[in-house]
Order: sequence, then structure tokens, then C-alpha cells
Amino acid sequence: MSNRYGRFDDAAREYVVTRPDTPLPWLNYLGQDELFGLCTNTGGGYTFWRDARLRRLTRYRYNDVPLDSVGRYLYVNDGGTVWNPGWKPTKTELDRYECRHGLGYTRIVGAKDGVEVELLFFVPPGENAEIWKTTVRNEGDAVKDLRLFSYVEFCLYEAFNDATNYQRSYASGEVEVEGSAIYHVSEYRERRNHYTLFACTREVSGFDTSRDVFAGVHSGLHEAAVPLAGRAQRSIAHGWNPIGSHQLDLRLEPGAEETFAFVLAYVEQDAAEKFESPSVANKEQGRRLLARYSEPGAVDSALQALQARWTDLLSTFQVDCPEPNATRMLNTWNQYQCMATFNLSRSASLYETGIGRGMGFRDSNQDVLGFVHLIPDRARQRILDLAATQLSDGTCFHQYQPLTKKGNADIGGGFYDDHLWLIVSTCAYVKETGDASILQEPIGYADLPGSSETLLHHLETSVAMTLGNRGGHGLPLIGHADWNDCLNLNSFTTDPDESFQTAGDIEGSKAESVMIAGLFLYAVRELAALYAHLGRIADEARLFQAYDELLAAVEAEAWDGEWYLRAFDAAGEPVGTHSADEGRIFVESQSWCALGGAGAGNGRARQALESVQTHLASTDGVALHRPPFTRYRPELGEITSYPPGYKENGSIFCHTNPWVTLSWCLLGEGDRALESHLAICPATKDDRIDTYRNEPYVYAQTIAGPDAATPGEAKNSWLTGTAAWALVALTQGILGVKPDYRGLRIDPCIPPAWDSFRVTRRFRGVVYEITVRNPHHVSCGVQSLTVDGSKLTGDLVPDVPGKTTVEVEVVLGGNRPARRRGRRAQPARAR
Ligand code: BGC
Ligand code: NOJ
Repeated sequence: MSNRYGRFDDAAREYVVTRPDTPLPWLNYLGQDELFGLCTNTGGGYTFWRDARLRRLTRYRYNDVPLDSVGRYLYVNDGGTVWNPGWKPTKTELDRYECRHGLGYTRIVGAKDGVEVELLFFVPPGENAEIWKTTVRNEGDAVKDLRLFSYVEFCLYEAFNDATNYQRSYASGEVEVEGSAIYHVSEYRERRNHYTLFACTREVSGFDTSRDVFAGVHSGLHEAAVPLAGRAQRSIAHGWNPIGSHQLDLRLEPGAEETFAFVLAYVEQDAAEKFESPSVANKEQGRRLLARYSEPGAVDSALQALQARWTDLLSTFQVDCPEPNATRMLNTWNQYQCMATFNLSRSASLYETGIGRGMGFRDSNQDVLGFVHLIPDRARQRILDLAATQLSDGTCFHQYQPLTKKGNADIGGGFYDDHLWLIVSTCAYVKETGDASILQEPIGYADLPGSSETLLHHLETSVAMTLGNRGGHGLPLIGHADWNDCLNLNSFTTDPDESFQTAGDIEGSKAESVMIAGLFLYAVRELAALYAHLGRIADEARLFQAYDELLAAVEAEAWDGEWYLRAFDAAGEPVGTHSADEGRIFVESQSWCALGGAGAGNGRARQALESVQTHLASTDGVALHRPPFTRYRPELGEITSYPPGYKENGSIFCHTNPWVTLSWCLLGEGDRALESHLAICPATKDDRIDTYRNEPYVYAQTIAGPDAATPGEAKNSWLTGTAAWALVALTQGILGVKPDYRGLRIDPCIPPAWDSFRVTRRFRGVVYEITVRNPHHVSCGVQSLTVDGSKLTGDLVPDVPGKTTVEVEVVLGGNRPARRRGRRAQPARAR
């Protein structure tokens, strides 16, 4: 589990980066509540409060040359030699380097010429502050006189303006300095009631706040004037580019070390108490915060609190199974990545600038599936926030800003899958928690100010939206696009200056999506089961009528002979058909039809999945479609804009792979399921890491497909729906631990070679210790279920409130109940 850049340290739950020149910057996130930091293995990245666009505290230069050249930096001047413990920006060769990305913290250790500097970056739980715990050690046998220089570059809060409107920003930057505390107060004189504090818990001997002075107008940060000269200039920025830098002078005897901390904090101020004297910012809160972290032990206890929080969180689901990469990813990294998607949706990563995209409607609803077991209360709120951006016709704002929670009108809507994901997330929430009261929460619609329709009303509106918008084959209209944002069947754009995503659609656009049909079948069956659980039998029956109608249309119109079509285009022609020269078979409709219950009784689901295996699968995963498109086709849109094998044009778009895994589970194929699960798993890429390039510990959005020029090369790590779905595929599909309305269902689908596995699962406050044995070496089918010593029939461990721990023993080798393949949930009694 190591490659030439790093390795997993499973016991410590850390990824250890062993050299700084990774194939791409390898990122970690700091923060869980409101203050977040992006932190690479060389300390690069930036910090923001809640919204990477509207409250960005420090700057980042995306797509810089070289990449990732601004961040949280500490320079060491040791007798004229200047170096950084994280290597960048000076890139002075280090004697030793190590970066440990852990859960909410990153620890970077660099050593040179007998001096070791350790930087530990983290955000204490509940605090709007990023701490840089710093330890400097003299490992040599002579006294060391060192000068250290810290560095952050302030962003003038609104990141888009900051990066584009220099005629204003070069004039508006302001700072105040008090002792070691540098206050970034740009725009504070007018409407901002917040400032950023960058301070040190140790005495400083100088500071700078002007980038021009610190670096030099014509110098990069790698050759910054102040650290090279070894003397701070006490510069005060007036406009231009305000920064925060401290000078610290340290004298260390041989073997001696010193520990202190830098504190980068965001402070909101009561409007009435903004100033302590005319035009001077009230620094009381800043002073208190700094005093708090200057107390002996305060930094360490904050770090312990952070670690305790993660240990507790991850203890919700732990596994011990024969596949080490599955165990390692699930126990730590996959759940950790799901929390990142909770916090950030698709807004801020190394590939999402935090400016263009906020919280995605379909994205965040799917993300819920990956974190609902960890943070059910926050998942509840997220679902309600999302629902509030739905319109009364059932369509949705495609994205909303996290700070305002208002739909982003620039991005618009018209994606006809969006609303269905709300059903999927809501049902997952109720299954996890048993809390059906969420359905009655008054939310209202974004286009009807003051309205207060319930969440359940939204779900019904979503069903009605799809039913009421069908095309000539009785299948759901696709709108601007479905899950595949780039399959634009109605736009016909030929204008290079137009964005594919917001290009208009032709009047009366009639293209239909088979994927939405499959998703509808899945979502409606979920909602029907919820109604059944609530004893609303008439509603259940009504939904099954709609289900039957759509299913009939799918089976009558969407079967191509060996697989399901992907869509019908605006002219009513099939997309994803055997007679096409390119884009012959698409994955999305195969798995979604299967997951929705199509092809269950007639063998088509199996045949569709076999076709996926034959035509789309490779060692790096399943491609979106093949062959990829080699020329631009306006009738298909953005999908044909990418070079063959990249992104939506036939790459291995990882998000879709767990759907395939789940489909194999449905079909009872444990070997295939695990194989497809591992194909996209980043931890399995050690032997081709220079090709793969992305972080080995988190999923990427896309891996260049077999037909690409650089097959196997991953892009866009971290913020992808792959995280949630990979977690669902492993935990619910393969390991088969499925939250259900009345308890936990245990329905594994594992490789027959597995002898056993164990799961610890916290569910509705009770810890289930589950052991699954496989003496007959089958994939699935529960032969016996024993709960706290009592034998039960079936595979449901009923929810027993009041207990703290429940022992569950499962032996495989029985028949899998047919209902799992069929469409109807078991008739249910009202509670
Ligand atoms: C990307 C998609 C993304 C869409 C919306 C497209 O350019 O290829 O993956 O969903 O933009 O941001
Ligand atoms: C990324 C987007 O965030 C997501 O919404 C979309 O479904 C996929 N790309 C596929 O296009």
C-alpha cells in the first residue's frame, strides 16, 4: 500500500506523503463546521468561512505556474540559507520531508541542516480559527540562531471581485497591527462587519503586511525579499495586496525545541460595536481568541477534541473484511471524503474555484447517501435547504450559494433529473433515522415567496413533474440534461461563446431520457415503500400505478436488443443504439434501469449488465459510453465537445461505477461487484501512480478512458458523487448492511471466496456488532440470522430501541428473497 510518493498509515488514519513533488498537489481539508481550509502536501491552499466565494479569507491563484504556489507558508532563515518545511515555495532541497494528511489536520515536517520544523494545521471543532501549531527543534550540536517568517496573503473576501476587479481592489485593502496580531480590515470601514486575524502566540520581532515589500514587485514567493534578507520591514499595506507575515527570532541550544502557534481567525462583529475608536476596528474578540490559544495546553486540547470527534464519527461504521483496500477506504477515507462533499458539495477544491459553483441540487442530494449515517441531523437540514430551492413546477435551481441558501440564478435550472434525487435522499434519511416527521416540515417553493408546502408535497411535486413531462415514447423528457450534464439533446449550440451549461433549449424540446426513466422507477419505488411503512396504502398503490406505466414504456420502447437505449434525441432518434457508429452503449441507463427494477423478470437487466462488462469495463473501471465521439455533434451537445475518452465523452466517470456495482449486487454477482468496486478505488493505483496522478486516498471524478490519449489518468479529485455512491455500493451492496424503515436489513453480496466479515454499525443510537459467515462459499442469501442469541427468520434485524449493543450473527447460504429483485416492497402494517 505504498508508492513512490507515499503510503497509508492505517493505524494512525493518515496518508503519509513521503516526497513533496507529487504528480499533482495532494490535498486535504481542514474544518468541519464553518471555517474551512484547503491544504496541500506542501501547505498550499486557502481558507474561507462558510462560502468560498463570499467569505474567502486568504488568496489562492488557481492554475498558477507552477501549480499550487500560494498557501500557508513558513520560511526559515538559518544563517542565510532559506527554506520551507513544506518545500514550497523556495523548493530548497530538504534533508527530510514528510506530510501526514489526517482527519481534519495536516502535519508537515521538514528538516534541514540540523533544524526540524513541524507544522500542524487544523481547525478546532466549533471554532472559526485555523491553528498552525509550530515546533522548531535543533537536532544538531551547535546553537542555532534562526529567523522565521510566516506568510498568508489576504483575499478581499469576495473572491470573484478579488480576482477580477483590480481597479478597485488595489485601492481598498487595509490592515491594522497590534503586537503579533495582524488584522485584515479591508472594507471594514464600510459594510463588512467582519475581519480576519493572523497572529502568533509567541512574541514576534517584526511583521509585514505589504506583499510588494515582503516579496518584491518583480519577485515570486520562492525568492521573497524579506525572508532572504532575514529582516521584516514593518510594512503597512495601503491597498495593493495585503498580506500577513511575522518575523520570529529563535535561539535554540543543541537538542532544544520551542513550540508555539499561529492563529488565523475569522471574527464577526456586532455592527453597533464595530469600532473601538473612530475608524479603528474593535479587536476585543480577536484579543480574546488569541489569549485563549496562548494558554498552555490549549492548542493540544483543541487537537484532541478534533481527534475525538472524528473517532466518534467514524465509529458509526467500521468493517473488517478480507479485502484490505475496501477496509481501509471504508473505515477512514471514503467516509471522510463523504464529509467533504457534505461541507463543500462541488464548490471548492483544486479543480472547483469556489466561485462558479455552490451547492448542487442533484449533487448534494446524492451526497446525503454518504453522510446521513454520520450526521443525520445535519443531513435533515441539508435536505430541507435543498428542497427550499425547488420551484412549484417541480424543477429546481441547479445550485445554491451556501451562505445565502438562495438558488443561483446565473446557473438556472431545467435539468429534469434534479427533483427525483430529493426523493432518494429523503427516503435514505427516514430509513436511517426512523424520523418521518421530516416529511411534514413546511418548506415552500422558491418561486412562491411565503409558501409553506411540506417536504412530502415537494416529493409528490417531483413525481408529478416527471409524469407530466413525457415525450413521444412515454419516457421522461430530459430537459437541458439529466445526470449527465453534458448530454444536451435540445440545445444545438454552435456558438463558441455560449456556455453549454446555460445554453437555451429549442422550443418544445422533446428529447427523452431512459436514465431518468430508470431513476424514476427507483425513486417511486422508494417513496411507495415509505408510504407502505406509514400505512398509506392508497398512496402506495397510486405510486405503483405510475411505476407500472413507466416500466411498461421502458420495456416497450427502450430496449435495444442487448442493452437499454440511453435516450431519444430531439428528433425522436435513439441514442445509445447498436447501429450507431459512436456512442453505441451508455452505462447510465443500464444500471438505472436495473436498479429501478426494469429487466428483472425478463432477463434484460442481466443482459444489459453483461453488455456493460463486454463493451465498457476495463481494469480502471467502466467507461460512460463507447466508442467515444470523435467529432462535435450539436444534437448531442457538450458530451461530444471533449476529446475522445475524457470527462463526459467516454471517460471512466467514476460516479457511475458504484451504480454498476449495485446492479451486480442486485443480480447476486459478488465477484463482479467487488471487482467493479475496486477498479476505480484510488488505493489500488499504486503501481501506476504516475499515470493516475491524483490522491490515492480519495476518489476522483474521472479517469481517462481506454480510448483516451492518456488512459488511466485521473482528474478532479475530492468533490464528486463517487464518494457517496462508492460508500453505498460497499456498505449496502456488497456488505449488505441496509438501513430500512423498521430496522437493519442484512443482505450481503460478496465474493464466494470470502469466509466471513465483521461490521460495527451504529444505527438509531444502537451499536450492532455484525458477523457474517460464509461456510458454503456463496455470494448471497441469508441462511440464518441470530440476534442476541435468538434465531429470526428473514434478513431484517428489527430496530430495538433501548439497547446499547446488539450482536448479530448471519450465516450465508440461503435463498435470497425474490422481493429483492421484484418491485414490490413487502406489504407493511401501519405503526
Ligand atoms: C462538466 C460536468 C459538470 C458541468 C456543470 C461540465 O463542463 O463536464 O461534469 O457537471 O460542467 O458544472
Ligand atoms: C459533475 C456534476 O457536478 C454533476 O452534477 C453531474 O451529474 C456530473 N458532472 C455528470 O455530468
